[in-house]
Amino acid sequence: MAEIAPGAVPSPNIWNSPRVYELENRAVDPDGVLDSAMRAIRPWAGATVLDVGCGTGFHLPFFAREGAQVIGVEPHSGLAAAARRRVRDLPNVTVRVGAAQALPLPDASVDVVHARWAYFFGPGCEPGLAELDRVVRRGGAIFIIDNDATRSTFGGWFRRSLPSYDPAAVERFWTRRGFRREPLTIRWSFGDRADLAAVLRIEFPPELAGEVLREHEGCEVDYAVNLWWRYA
Ligand SMILES: C[S@@+](CC[C@H](N)C(=O)[O-])C[C@H]1O[C@@H](n2cnc3c(N)ncnc32)[C@H](O)[C@@H]1O
Repeated sequence: MAEIAPGAVPSPNIWNSPRVYELENRAVDPDGVLDSAMRAIRPWAGATVLDVGCGTGFHLPFFAREGAQVIGVEPHSGLAAAARRRVRDLPNVTVRVGAAQALPLPDASVDVVHARWAYFFGPGCEPGLAELDRVVRRGGAIFIIDNDATRSTFGGWFRRSLPSYDPAAVERFWTRRGFRREPLTIRWSFGDRADLAAVLRIEFPPELAGEVLREHEGCEVDYAVNLWWRYA
């Protein structure tokens, strides 16, 4: 059994099915919309980048191309080990086991934080935000990527899976803490329907995954996200 750092939010998609989650990551945002949006706010060339909740480290090589130092923090020790294997040939990347609420990093040691679909889901994540305030240097920036349930095909599926989700409350939470919202539309682009089906089955309950597959044709899905961000 993998050890899991205290405070981790259960993430059955990647915890139970890391190979299928890899297919999902490969399908996400082939147009580089998120990359361009973050880069326009705070580029990371020569910077120290922290990826909080890095999972199997899918995004670490991307940040390592320009970042001086890249640190992945992940509470699930098995996923952290997979992330380490992924970056073993990249000398500027390290992976630590830990959670957002107790980052294993010194004060004022990071320039850019990236957290993608990881822990920072709005109300309840205040302890992790306090940690980001501690570790991010002045002049740095924090990027949080999460679903926008108010629009897009994926947003509609997400609402059906979680009817109690309150996008207005989430927006109030971030706005009060000084974050700005950049609404973005990305897409999932799968090579075949079997991969889309596998990913839907790790993201949604079986009945909804089946319904969605019957309703939706092709291998492309438009997907609304919010990039929440602020400078340190
Ligand atoms: C849906 S996965 C996304 C993984 C990765 N960001 C990616 O895009 O491939 C969510 C990740 O957040 C991690 N996570 C859960 N609770 C966390 C916490 N309290 N602090 C940091 N990461 C956490 C999970 O272990 C999981 O790896």
